[in-house]
Amino acid sequence: MFRIAHVSDLHVLSPLGFEWRKAIFNKRITGYANLLLKRKRVFRRDLLVAALEAAAAAADHVVVTGDITNLSLESEYEEARTLLDEVARRVEVTVVPGNHDVYLRTIHHERRFPHHFGTFLKSDLPELALELASGAFPCMKLRGPAAIIALSSAVPRPPFVAAGLVGDPQLAALGKALRHPEVARRTPVVLLHHPPVDDRPTRKQKRDGLVDGAELRETLGALARGLVLFGHLHMRTHRTLPTSTGALDIVSSSGGALDHDDPMIRSGFNMYEIDDDGRIATIEAHVLDETGKRTRRVEIGKS
Ligand SMILES: [Fe+2]
Ligand SMILES: [Fe+2]
Repeated sequence: MFRIAHVSDLHVLSPLGFEWRKAIFNKRITGYANLLLKRKRVFRRDLLVAALEAAAAAADHVVVTGDITNLSLESEYEEARTLLDEVARRVEVTVVPGNHDVYLRTIHHERRFPHHFGTFLKSDLPELALELASGAFPCMKLRGPAAIIALSSAVPRPPFVAAGLVGDPQLAALGKALRHPEVARRTPVVLLHHPPVDDRPTRKQKRDGLVDGAELRETLGALARGLVLFGHLHMRTHRTLPTSTGALDIVSSSGGALDHDDPMIRSGFNMYEIDDDGRIATIEAHVLDETGKRTRRVEIGKS
């Protein structure tokens, strides 16, 4: 049995400092306004720490599907790295970037994400990876019955656009990775930030969704089973996507720090258990209580 805990959208904040003053006249002002209006009221750092601790205690591997920082500030990256290092002392960690981790084009090209989080992205099949500004992807980790496949869908965008793109070269590399014998004999666990399936109106999808979701689904379309894990929506969801030979479980986790009454939004982690024969045995949420000291199990999609 291999157990994966899934947290997402940590949106790690750090005290406003010099970087904030530098950022006043650029895109970060949008993010900061957003933060003041919506985020600060519901993001609780104590819940974030509790969710990470609970995930590390419950699983063999912790995956984080992006938006690890909030404004891509260097101080946020350092704080997030400290939090993830604490998790990595107990279990292995894998991360993918979200739109908030590449908030500005310059940060993307400074390679801030791989600089701070490269330690969580050491591939077993590095020959299959492409060198992207967000790091070397796809990153492959072969662990027991699972083949963890980390993708980057994060690309810098103009203000008010948060859409993601995997891109044709990375999709081609993914297709090749899925045919690798060491991957093909395992259950694939694909990680990305943006939703691979999206029912929102087309206009919303173009601004906030995965631009090449259809191409990604086509690349995954021959798999008999597997998990596709994502974040970005700040909401737990689970749906089954039929393929030519079976079906995929497409599952999102919520914001790791969110204080909310709805258990599909509230802080915690998702848990997946994969049997030694590759069968996906469990898909469920572990949601933190008010104190952050206890979790309760909740079926995803049911409140
Ligand atoms: Fe987010
Ligand atoms: Fe996002």
